[in-house]
Amino acid sequence: MKGIFISIEGPEGAGKTTVIEDLKNYMLRSSADCLFTREPGGIAISEQIRDIILNTKNTSMDGRTEALLYAASRRQHLVEKVLPALNNGRIVICDRFIDSSLAYQGYARGLGIEEVMSINQFAIEGNMPDLTIYLDIEPEIGLARIAMNKSREINRLDLEKLEFHKKVRDGYKTLQNKYNKRIKEVDASKTREEVFQDVLKVFKETLNAKGIII
Ligand code: TMP
Repeated sequence: MKGIFISIEGPEGAGKTTVIEDLKNYMLRSSADCLFTREPGGIAISEQIRDIILNTKNTSMDGRTEALLYAASRRQHLVEKVLPALNNGRIVICDRFIDSSLAYQGYARGLGIEEVMSINQFAIEGNMPDLTIYLDIEPEIGLARIAMNKSREINRLDLEKLEFHKKVRDGYKTLQNKYNKRIKEVDASKTREEVFQDVLKVFKETLNAKGIII
C-alpha cells in the first residue's frame, strides 16, 4: 500500500456527508490526488449488496447475515476500488469501513467485536486504515438532525430504536479507546466550520507524517 487510507466514521446524523463535502472542496485546491468513496457500496456489486442490507422490507434479516453481507460488500469494494487507488499512491477517503461493522454489528447487535473483527479480517486481509476520523454525536442530537433532513433516504438501520443508536455510540467509544493511535475523535456537535477545522487538523497530521503537505 503506497497511498494513504483514511476512513470517516460516526453514528447516524453525525454529519459525515457534510464533512466529506467540505473535504472534497478543500482538496480541489490541493495538488494531492484524492479518491472519495463510500461503504456499503462504491461499486456496482457492493451497491447491490447495500440494497439488500438496507431494504426496509428485510425486517427478518439475521444479525450474522447482516455482518457477513457488510463484510462481503467491503471485500469487493476494497479489491475493486480502494486497493488499486492505494497502489497508485492516491489518498483514499472512505465514508465508513470496518469500524462500522465493529460498532453496529459487533457491539450494538451484540455479535461481539472480536467475532466481527475475525470475519472482517478474512475480508480485508490486514488492509486497515492509516487514520480513522470518528465524528462523535449524542444519538438524540444525531437522530433529530436526520429527522430534519427530509432529502435523506431512510434505511433499515435508521428504523432501530434509540437504545440501539446509544449502543452504536458506546461501541465507537470502546473502539476509540482500544485503537486510540488510529482512531481520532472529533466532537461533531460543534458548528460546521469548527468540526471541519478539527477534522482538517488530524487529516493534515497524518498526511504530513507521510511526507505529503497540503
Ligand atoms: P450510511 O448511513 O453511511 O449510508 O450507512 C448505511 C447504514 O449502514 C448505517 O446505518 C450504518 C450501517 N452500517 C453497518 O451497520 N455496518 C457496516 O459495516 C457499515 C459499512 C454500515
